[in-house]
Amino acid sequence: MNKTTDHKTAAAPARQEGNWQAYVEDFRRAGHEAVDWIAQYLSNVSEMPVLAQTKPGQLLDALPLSAPEKGEPFDAILRDFDRLVMPAVTQWNHPRFFAYFACTGSTPAILGEMLAAALNTNGLHWKTSPAVAELEQRALDWMRQWIGLSDEWFGIVYDTASTSSMHAVVCAREMVDPQARTAGSTNNLVLYTSDQAHMSIEKGAIAVGVGQKNVRKVPSDAEFRMRADALARMVEEDKQAGKRPFCVVATVGTTSSTSIDPVPQIANIAEQHGMWLHVDAAYAGAAAILPEHRHILDGAERAHSLVFNAHKWLLTPIDLSAFYTRRPDILRRAFSLTPEY
Ligand SMILES: Cc1ncc(COP(=O)(O)O)c(C=O)c1O
Repeated sequence: MNKTTDHKTAAAPARQEGNWQAYVEDFRRAGHEAVDWIAQYLSNVSEMPVLAQTKPGQLLDALPLSAPEKGEPFDAILRDFDRLVMPAVTQWNHPRFFAYFACTGSTPAILGEMLAAALNTNGLHWKTSPAVAELEQRALDWMRQWIGLSDEWFGIVYDTASTSSMHAVVCAREMVDPQARTAGSTNNLVLYTSDQAHMSIEKGAIAVGVGQKNVRKVPSDAEFRMRADALARMVEEDKQAGKRPFCVVATVGTTSSTSIDPVPQIANIAEQHGMWLHVDAAYAGAAAILPEHRHILDGAERAHSLVFNAHKWLLTPIDLSAFYTRRPDILRRAFSLTPEY
């Protein structure tokens, strides 16, 4: 890609010439090249630097200011990819990438992504692709069994744990204040989570209209676990002040230290005050698949919802988040709409 001119003069792909079979054959050839590229990358990635080698703005400056008007052959695109894009990539698939959380895209998952992209389905509802709906249902049921949740739990795929937790907050609101769906949030709902919780919880509360000032950061103990005694006290104080505690989010595997909140004690308080309990197990939940780590989800069976990310420790590329709830009726009530079309 030349910054100003190359993209305008490149050969038109076969599809633009109206030859579908040639277009498919172009794809076949390019697809083999792409798979070869990926295999080469996977065999070399451990030799690459983990961090991107570019300065801020370097890739931006190397890209044309206006969008290409013509397509380019795939080998030219791949050359640009190597020359311009790769140096600007931080290698999340690197065996020495230890930032944030371990991210382990695997080769079967890469191939799965290719097949899914080829079908380009949209799982709006069963009829838009029964395969999507039924595969999702069955695969999430397998994952549910792996982490030891009972068959009371219903699973659904979301893009991220951030979206999952935001939807959990909406469910919590729907449970205690069903008017809010039509009238909007009242400003007396209060959500509790620890001072170690992932920022997505607070962002979810902001997005849903709970309001940042109604998010209570419960202090944690010396091992970064939510203090259940502090939670109980804060809930009581808020109730006395006329507030309405509606949701508590416990974390199983905090982002900074993988600390595990005392879910059984938190569940006692949630039950006592009629609050929705969401378990954010985005990071560490997959560890519960191992019998020796199953205990990390002790008490979670009493929660209303739980999320864990297949795209963290389950060998799945970003993004695949598994959201489970024991109250699919409330999830449905919170979000169902029948659109005009
Ligand atoms: C505990 C926890 N919750 C939520 C998230 C957000 O996950 P996602 O990027 O899927 O939104 C993370 C990500 O690191 C996390 O560690």
